[in-house]
Amino acid sequence: MPTVLVTGASRGLGLELVRQYGADGWDVLACARDPRKATDLQRLAAQSEGRVAVYPLDVTDFTAIDTLAGQLADRAIDVLISNAGTMGSRGNALGSIDFTEWDDIFRLNAFAPLKMAGAFAGHIARSSAKKLIAISTIMASLARNNLGGFYAYRASKAALNAIMVSLSLDLARRHGIIAATLHPGWVRTDMGGSRAEIDPATSVTGLRRVIASLTKERAGRFWAYDGSELPW
Ligand SMILES: NC(=O)c1ccc[n+]([C@@H]2O[C@H](COP(=O)([O-])OP(=O)(O)OC[C@H]3O[C@@H](n4cnc5c(N)ncnc54)[C@H](OP(=O)(O)O)[C@@H]3O)[C@@H](O)[C@H]2O)c1
Repeated sequence: MPTVLVTGASRGLGLELVRQYGADGWDVLACARDPRKATDLQRLAAQSEGRVAVYPLDVTDFTAIDTLAGQLADRAIDVLISNAGTMGSRGNALGSIDFTEWDDIFRLNAFAPLKMAGAFAGHIARSSAKKLIAISTIMASLARNNLGGFYAYRASKAALNAIMVSLSLDLARRHGIIAATLHPGWVRTDMGGSRAEIDPATSVTGLRRVIASLTKERAGRFWAYDGSELPW
């Protein structure tokens, strides 16, 4: 069976990605910042008959990323999904911006997916599907920004989008890897809130369909969970 690695698997979209790929028979490498607190994930793993393996990984700890890549050195990873992300906890509006938080937001949303790609490119290249995915957001689209605000979130995810375009070119040439950036919709998670439009199951069903449909021709582009293409 194919193997998927998911970051930020403790809750929200990451947890649902683990649930759906696991239910479909995939081998799932579920990475969570603090697995002891991720009780839903632990329950899923316990019921998975060995298909879901949980690994501690704070993706802002780049030494830990290298250590995990070494630990999994003999694994082929068909799909690697950099899902962990944050909107930041403090001011999002002009006048209340806390710039001290920007380093952390950029490290998690933009730098960590780049570090993951570098550390795991070999594992992905050894697989059959060879797919590298970053979960971004429509809020990173410059063309679709009609509301303003959310400076750090929009800027860090726009940086992620730029990184993914370069990665898609470099990794296709070097390893035949298909890299793409996905928007999950506005989803009812801790981040999306209770008023969001769709539930995690609907989002992840769509995301998995988009990931399965990715080809060389569709790489390096920005796709929504419903299969529509988004402008940068
Ligand atoms: N929900 C939406 O409407 C929406 C819309 C567009 C894009 N997105 C994107 O979708 C992705 C998932 O969002 P979500 O809605 O599932 O968010 P969420 O419910 O807030 O979950 C965030 C996940 O990221 C993990 N995380 C945070 N910091 C981490 C770190 N340093 N290392 C490893 N994991 C870390 C969290 O782990 P802990 O439990 O340890 O905190 C949690 O598993 C994000 O990239 C987000 O930007 C979401």
